[in-house]
Amino acid sequence: MKIKIASSILAANPNNLEEEVLLAEKAGADYIHVDVMDGLFVPNKTDFTPELLKGLRNFCSTPFDVHLMVQNPIDYAKIYAGIADIMTVHAERISHEELSILKRKLKNKIGIALNPATSIEKTADFLDHSDMVLIMTVNPGFGGQKFLPETLEKIKALRKFYSGPIEVDGGINDATAKLAAAAGADILVAGTYVFKSMNYREAIEKLRRSV
Ligand code: DX5
Ligand code: ZN
Repeated sequence: MKIKIASSILAANPNNLEEEVLLAEKAGADYIHVDVMDGLFVPNKTDFTPELLKGLRNFCSTPFDVHLMVQNPIDYAKIYAGIADIMTVHAERISHEELSILKRKLKNKIGIALNPATSIEKTADFLDHSDMVLIMTVNPGFGGQKFLPETLEKIKALRKFYSGPIEVDGGINDATAKLAAAAGADILVAGTYVFKSMNYREAIEKLRRSV
């Protein structure tokens, strides 16, 4: 499978998001990754509201990959359903039953995310009702953290019994991208690496070449 790049706007210039998403699209990003944080599930808060995303839609047509790092993902999923192309909820905050209902009702693409401390066995119950698995490669909440190498074993273990898309999120650069892809990941979230670079296109191409 061709590697896909999801540019995380957490690292983009918040005062110029319209231009930032446009530049990421022109640079070849496959997804715009949007981190929704409520200050409860993670010790940080973001303000990427559905209204803001609707506004950004006028500037780029790249699919929105909305990562819900929130205490109550069901409420948030309903709110973002109209604007997200894929929404990812955390396995730590949803039951198998709740996810199946969400999937049936919303007809959106839905991913299931696992924190570094959550074991891979936890995904088995969710796979029937999800379109993607997101493996957190840092503890969620902040951009610019260091990739946790112990998460590579989880990616490898998951790849043995799951053939769908595996997204990795946190600390991705040209060195860790190579490791994550070799372990079986096919969607790489990159915030700092893209948006803090001098040239977004070069950064994205370098990530693709590194795997
Ligand atoms: C972290 C977020 C990530 C973050 C990644 O909690 O889920 O999506 O934006 O940022 P970098 O690429 O800077 O590690
Ligand atoms: Zn994220």
